[in-house]
Amino acid sequence: MGGPRQLPSRRAFASLITAGAGMAAVAACTPEKAAPSPAAANAASGAATASAVPSTAVASNPATGTATAAPSAASPTATASSSAPSSAVAPQHSLTDPTSPWVVVNKHRPLSPQDFVPADLVQPNVRLAVSGEASLLNSTTAAAAEKMFGAAATEGIVMTLASGYRSYSTQVATYGGYVAGTGQAAADRASARPGHSEHQTGWSFDIADGGGACSFQPCFAEQPAAVWAKANAHRFGFVVRYPWMFHDTTGYFYESWHLRYIGVEAATDMATRGIPTLEEYFGLEAAPDYL
Ligand code: DAL
Ligand code: ZN
Repeated sequence: MGGPRQLPSRRAFASLITAGAGMAAVAACTPEKAAPSPAAANAASGAATASAVPSTAVASNPATGTATAAPSAASPTATASSSAPSSAVAPQHSLTDPTSPWVVVNKHRPLSPQDFVPADLVQPNVRLAVSGEASLLNSTTAAAAEKMFGAAATEGIVMTLASGYRSYSTQVATYGGYVAGTGQAAADRASARPGHSEHQTGWSFDIADGGGACSFQPCFAEQPAAVWAKANAHRFGFVVRYPWMFHDTTGYFYESWHLRYIGVEAATDMATRGIPTLEEYFGLEAAPDYL
C-alpha cells in the first residue's frame, strides 16, 4: 500500500447513513443475542470521527507474514508513501499467526488454522456481562483488560466485558443468526463469517457500559465506557478495531465496543498518528468484502 490514506467519500457516507435496516447490523457482535431488530439508528451521531492525520504503513513481508518495524516516534508527520518502517514497537510480529498480537484477521485474511483455539484462555478479573466461553480471553489480553478496566474504574467509568472469545462453532451460530435476521449483505457488515472473526483469536472483546445502555448499538459510542475507551484504550494496548467510516477498509460498520489488543507501543503509535485501521498500519490491502 502506498499513498496518503483516503478520507471516506461522501458517497460512502451517504451509503452508510441511508443503509436503513442494514444499520441494525452495526449492532452485531454478541453470540448470546439474536440478530438485532432493525432500528432507526442514527449512525451519524457516533461520537467518533475519522481522523485526517496522514499515516505511514509498517513495512510488511507477505512472504513471511511478518511486519518489520523500526522506532520512528520522532517522525509523526511521515506520510504513507514512505518506504521506511515506522513503528515504535518491537521489530517482528507475525501478521498471520493467530498467537501473534499483530495477527490481522479480516475478510481477506481468515484464521489459519480455521479451527484455531487459543491455548491460554483465561477469565479476566473484570466485571462480566457474560459467562462461559464468551468471558474468556487469551492470557495477554486478559491481563491488559484487567489494567484497563481498573483504570477506567478509578475514573468513575464502569465497563463490562460483554463478549470475549468465540469459538469457530459459536461463530457459525452467531453469523447464521444475523443472516437469518438481516440478510447476508447486512450480516456481512456486522458479523464475521466463521473462521474470520477476531473473537476467535482471543485478542478481541466487546465492552458494555455498567448499566448496559446501548449495548452493541450505534448509540453505545456516546456512552461513558465507549468515550473513555476511545480516548484511553491505547494506553493499555487496545485499538477500536472497526472505527467510524472505515468499513471500506475493515469490512465492518463502526463498532465502538470492539477492542483489539496489539500491544501498548503499537496502539499508542496508531493513536498518536491517527492511523485508524490495522490494515493501514501494517500496509495491508483493504478488505471490504470477501474474495
Ligand atoms: N463483529 C465482528 C466483526 C465479528 O463478528 O467478529
Ligand atoms: Zn466484537
